[in-house]
Amino acid sequence: MPNSNIPVITIDGPTASGKGTVAHKVADRLGFHLLDSGALYRLTALSALRRGTALNDEHALAKVAEHLTIRFHGGHVYLGTEEVSHAIRAEEVGNTASRIAALPAVRQALFALQLGFRETPGLVADGRDMGTVIFPTAQLKVFLTASVEARAQRRYKQLIDKGFSANIDDLLEDLQSRDARDTQRAVAPLMPAEDAHLLDTSQMTADEAVEQVLAWYAGK
Ligand code: DC
Repeated sequence: MPNSNIPVITIDGPTASGKGTVAHKVADRLGFHLLDSGALYRLTALSALRRGTALNDEHALAKVAEHLTIRFHGGHVYLGTEEVSHAIRAEEVGNTASRIAALPAVRQALFALQLGFRETPGLVADGRDMGTVIFPTAQLKVFLTASVEARAQRRYKQLIDKGFSANIDDLLEDLQSRDARDTQRAVAPLMPAEDAHLLDTSQMTADEAVEQVLAWYAGK
């Protein structure tokens, strides 16, 4: 089947909008593959931090992205042979990921890798530019939003549940600066595709959001 006929559902949105959870559950319900594109930027960031790569050296960072040895298996993420699912969720890694994601050469280095996830029977792709840049031919595009307060609460709970320490005021500030960086960058900024369905999840549970996405997909 030509690659562009393989169904893709893109779920884009700002950090802590609930995309990850919703994408996961939608993929499970449909038996589709899942692409957590943020994890690719986080893996690049983690790898760069560990190697001591200068965070303003675009060329060197693109090389790091190009040479990532990664594997997703059973909900776990591996860098080489090391399980790094926990390590890539640290705030420092997320902030670094957001910084290096603004560099065109880094985005270019991760482009083909992301296209490779489009496999039968289908894919749910979670990120910032899935509907606009990576999979513009997706059968369904969803853009999730939520108020910054609701997102800070969610991120707080996520971090505490994972055993990290967290402070709600710091998180609010962090989310706002990350939003600003992700939406104002020149390349592939965070924005809904023209044909995206908008879903505000501030007052919604993840399961309600999942039902809405599945209903939209069933109506396609
Ligand atoms: O979704 P996340 O928080 O795991 O993503 C981490 C960072 O990676 C985010 O701040 C911006 C960047 N990112 C991106 O630029 N494009 C994507 N498709 C996914 C993530």
